Amino acid sequence: MRSSRLLSFVLTSCLIGSSLAAIITSPSQLPSTTFDYIIVGAGNAGLVVANRLTENANVSVLVLEAGVSDAGIIPVQAPFLGPTATPNTAVDWNYTITDQTGLNGRTFAYPRGRVLGGCSTVNYLFHQYGTDEDWNRLATLSNDEGWTWNNMKQYIQKHEKFTPPIDGHNTTGQFIPSLHGFNGEVSVSLPGFNMTIDPRVINTTQELSAEFPYNQDMSGGSQSLLGIGWLQSSAGGGVRSSSSTSYLANANSRPNLTVLIHATVTKLVQSGATTAGLKSFRSVQFQVSPDAPAVSTASQVTTVTAKKEVILSAGAIGTTQILKLSGIGSSSELTALGINSTIDSPNVGENLSDHTLLPNIFSVKGNLSFDNIIRNPTATLNQWIQNKTGVFANNVANNFGFLRIPSNATIFQNTTDPAPGPKSPHWEIIFANNWFSPGVAQPATGSFFTITLVLISPTSRGTVKLASSNPLAKPLIDPKYLTTEFDIFTMREAVKSSIRFSKAPAWSDYITGPFADGFQNAFSATDDSVIDQYVREVMTTIFHPMGTAAMGTFNSTSAVVNPDLTVKGASGLRIVDGSVFPYIPSSHPSGAIYLLAERASDIIKSSSA
Ligand SMILES: Cc1cc2nc3c(=O)[nH]c(=O)nc-3n(C[C@H](O)[C@H](O)[C@H](O)COP(=O)(O)OP(=O)(O)OC[C@H]3O[C@@H](n4cnc5c(N)ncnc54)[C@H](O)[C@@H]3O)c2cc1C
Ligand SMILES: *[C@@H]1O[C@H](CO)[C@@H](O)[C@H](O)[C@H]1NC(C)=O
Ligand SMILES: *[C@@H]1O[C@H](CO)[C@@H](O)[C@H](O)[C@H]1NC(C)=O
Ligand SMILES: *[C@@H]1O[C@H](CO)[C@@H](O)[C@H](O)[C@H]1NC(C)=O
Ligand SMILES: *[C@@H]1O[C@H](CO)[C@@H](O)[C@H](O)[C@H]1NC(C)=O
Ligand SMILES: *[C@@H]1O[C@H](CO)[C@@H](O)[C@H](O)[C@H]1NC(C)=O
Ligand SMILES: *[C@@H]1O[C@H](CO)[C@@H](O)[C@H](O)[C@H]1NC(C)=O
Ligand SMILES: *[C@@H]1O[C@H](CO)[C@@H](O)[C@H](O)[C@H]1NC(C)=O
Ligand SMILES: *[C@@H]1O[C@H](CO)[C@@H](O)[C@H](O)[C@H]1NC(C)=O
Ligand SMILES: *[C@@H]1O[C@H](CO)[C@@H](O)[C@H](O)[C@H]1NC(C)=O
Ligand SMILES: *[C@@H]1O[C@H](CO)[C@@H](O)[C@H](O)[C@H]1NC(C)=O
Ligand SMILES: *[C@@H]1O[C@H](CO)[C@@H](O)[C@H](O)[C@H]1NC(C)=O
Ligand SMILES: *[C@@H]1O[C@H](CO)[C@@H](O)[C@H](O)[C@H]1NC(C)=O
Repeated sequence: MRSSRLLSFVLTSCLIGSSLAAIITSPSQLPSTTFDYIIVGAGNAGLVVANRLTENANVSVLVLEAGVSDAGIIPVQAPFLGPTATPNTAVDWNYTITDQTGLNGRTFAYPRGRVLGGCSTVNYLFHQYGTDEDWNRLATLSNDEGWTWNNMKQYIQKHEKFTPPIDGHNTTGQFIPSLHGFNGEVSVSLPGFNMTIDPRVINTTQELSAEFPYNQDMSGGSQSLLGIGWLQSSAGGGVRSSSSTSYLANANSRPNLTVLIHATVTKLVQSGATTAGLKSFRSVQFQVSPDAPAVSTASQVTTVTAKKEVILSAGAIGTTQILKLSGIGSSSELTALGINSTIDSPNVGENLSDHTLLPNIFSVKGNLSFDNIIRNPTATLNQWIQNKTGVFANNVANNFGFLRIPSNATIFQNTTDPAPGPKSPHWEIIFANNWFSPGVAQPATGSFFTITLVLISPTSRGTVKLASSNPLAKPLIDPKYLTTEFDIFTMREAVKSSIRFSKAPAWSDYITGPFADGFQNAFSATDDSVIDQYVREVMTTIFHPMGTAAMGTFNSTSAVVNPDLTVKGASGLRIVDGSVFPYIPSSHPSGAIYLLAERASDIIKSSSA
């Protein structure tokens, strides 16, 4: 996918976009320094809360976002171009991870959206909700029935606007309408541009139905995620639907909502009385972001205060960083950095959990893959600009699936099954009609088919730590990938399984063979260590960090937040984003984070009533 030519081409192609009314760009435009609620981060979760709280016209809300506007940027609008929106662009935080011992010492870029909509603006648009088993486990370990799927499923109706595919094809059998919402905020749609590999994938679910059964709906919830089916994407009419183009766009005419961009929050400060041992954290300090158009005021600190609550929605990395800069974290770790401890909460930044990505790239016959379109994108880009149709109006995959390692696998002699239940997968398989390897340039010639594998139930846990007390310094992100027996075992079995998939009769007149040396070695390996070496050399991430401010019961001392998402030891402070999930969901997480933020909004509304 990542052809540098395609990247530079689309990055210079910008649309004229109208700026949204509620959005201001400088602290001097603030209507007040006091608001009922202050939301830190205009991301996937933060904009849901901003929309829901301002449904009441008497409630004033300020959203502070470090990043830029999303208006007029083609790579974040055309679904297929999502992978060109990051890394190391104007809409990215430009992080890298520390050297990974489980990946032979490698490091790589770790993108996070720094733009209205956050990661929902730069992600790859795969839209799912996790399984009911994920939500029921969360309810059990937080001891809050409200997180059960039985309660959470109602939020699909408020959240989702299921939309016909752009090619208008008959979608019967590709999704189950009763599992979906049709009047919500975020557009979700099935594929709208056929790939020549699609019928071969579907044929394989018949030819090898025991190992790769067909699944009629891939959204999760009460429907098992196991099997292979049609991808649902957060897009409608050939354009990405992010929290910015949906929840924010649908609320931006409300006079009570103010969104300030180019505002980097540097810390939360105590204001007001400590009651019942809880320290009030209702003031927020920020400064103009270093890359803002007018940077003369960059070092000036502005303080704003919430009458009711501050809601941290800065994501798994940003929320951790802000908590620690505010003295909320391991007191010994923070004191060593010269930061005064305010709340000793040892697991802030611990338990980082992520999904990994391994692209298995095959050479294929003919020229019906999308590789030549990626090499020469002009006509396809013009078609998208004029008509919002064609390859770039569609996502990067049409079919994908989720699978488990067998219950009699030897690893279960040593490890308890980390999946939340029997309908939840251990790994994922994604099919792309081209060279698809985030971070690795596409070759100048050749046609490719990529089977990407993702570890869905990892047991490795990493950390996010501050490099220094400088709020503008990048944090140290160490996911500790593949550092458990279970994780490497599962990836090894996934590689073997995907090779069996590629040997189905449906592919015999299409696939020529594995492309790169490492994959060729793994493909013909008789020794597991050869496969392990391939996995450790090639595997990267699919960008789902979570768990760094995990939820637990009200009396838990290891959790960072309570079941109502209030921060332990604090008053007036809640966390609403991906960092609160103690276990990463068994699917792509954006949809699950939307549902979490919908319920969080209800909790916040009822707690102030
Ligand atoms: C390249 C990529 C591809 C992905 N693909 C998929 C996919 O296909 N499907 C899927 O489900 N998930 C995908 N994900 C993951 C998913 O998008 C994220 O897990 C999810 O959107 C995170 O939501 P959030 O609300 O927790 O945080 P975010 O959406 O990251 O929001 C955090 C916001 O806070 C802002 N912020 C951070 N620090 C500060 C600060 N100090 N001051 C002010 N503002 C701050 C950020 O700029 C950002 O706008 C992908 C992620 C990436 C990066
Ligand atoms: C808003 O405030 C007005 C005046 O105080 C009150 O009459 C009205 O009921 C309030 N509306 C809501 C939704 O709280
Ligand atoms: C990330 O890198 C891009 C390209 O160099 C730059 O425009 C952007 O401002 C950088 N972001 C940050 C947070 O430094
Ligand atoms: C779509 O296909 C199904 C089954 O193949 C059929 O029953 C249905 O009538 C079709 N719908 C339309 C609108 O053609
Ligand atoms: C795509 O394929 C489906 C069959 O899977 C077919 O119904 C549809 O018409 C095709 N769309 C286009 C645009 O060719
Ligand atoms: C599936 O495979 C069979 C046998 O190889 C073939 O006849 C059929 O056309 C294929 N179906 C599709 C949809 O390609
Ligand atoms: C919110 O709206 C009310 C009127 O509905 C107005 O009095 C108040 O100033 C507004 N607050 C903000 C921050 O816009
Ligand atoms: C830490 O607290 C002490 C005592 O209250 C104060 O003097 C000092 O300035 C604080 N340091 C920082 C970095 O805030
Ligand atoms: C856009 O659609 C119009 C009308 O269908 C068509 O004439 C035109 O060729 C299309 N443009 C592109 C670039 O495909
Ligand atoms: C697991 O069970 C399957 C089917 O019964 C069998 O073929 C396989 O050899 C077993 N694997 C192990 C490791 O026992
Ligand atoms: C289970 O643990 C034993 C002892 O540590 C080890 O020898 C064996 O390889 C492990 N088995 C698997 C499948 O990881
Ligand atoms: C914590 O609270 C739960 C109920 O919320 C209770 O079941 C559990 O026993 C308590 N644990 C401790 C250590 O008090
Ligand atoms: C987080 O990790 C720590 C250290 O590994 C562990 O003790 C703690 O129980 C975990 N906390 C949660 C909430 O999962």
